[in-house]
Amino acid sequence: MATPHIEVNDKELFAKTVLMPGDPLRAEFIAKTYLTDVVKINNVRNMFGFTGYYKGKKVTVMGSGMGMPSIGIYSYELFNVYDVDNIIRIGSCGSYSPKINIYDVIIASSAYSESSYAKVAYDYDENILNANEELNNALNVSAKKLGFSVFNEIIHSSDVFYRAHGNVFTDVRDRFGCVAVEMESFALFANARYLNKRAACILTVSDSLVTHEVTSSEERQKSFNKMMEIALDAAI
Ligand code: HPA
Repeated sequence: MATPHIEVNDKELFAKTVLMPGDPLRAEFIAKTYLTDVVKINNVRNMFGFTGYYKGKKVTVMGSGMGMPSIGIYSYELFNVYDVDNIIRIGSCGSYSPKINIYDVIIASSAYSESSYAKVAYDYDENILNANEELNNALNVSAKKLGFSVFNEIIHSSDVFYRAHGNVFTDVRDRFGCVAVEMESFALFANARYLNKRAACILTVSDSLVTHEVTSSEERQKSFNKMMEIALDAAI
């Protein structure tokens, strides 16, 4: 049952809910900081995955890599081969809105993308795909319980990080109502829809395309912790 990208031979090594940061070293940090009885389950391409226990409940944390092709591969294999039911992406994003500041936390209600991923993979014509409502409800309940405020908004899933000068984001923001940009959730939501599974995405704002502010590493860690605690609480 090992896949070309994941060397795990026993499905039981995966929890039913997987948290996916982009960075595999962040997966390691989350596992070491928050989980007990941690087992490292994947090393292929250094895309580390860890399964452990959060408040007694089994949870897996694994890196997705950057961009839709990468999360597309890993999330497909988790859902389809390892019987994972829920994937919650925990990532960073750039703000498109003067109302959304660095360190704010956003739960994606849906993702707009100009990517061809969903069309090519599944012949889906939509350019907006939704997160799973139950997972989003669980994330909102956890945020409230922990006393953290969050935004629930549509986000832009982009294939492009660097653009020609003058090629502005305001068009996407104003046409589709996207408040922030990241690069993975549209493919994750497409896979979940096709495979009849559940996916959500919670993001911390790491930079602003409006004010050009960027986060300091210490503050970034603090606000990432907030997001991770919400995701872990929702996962159990
Ligand atoms: N663009 C795309 N993805 C991102 C950004 C950005 O500015 N910031 C964090 N993830």
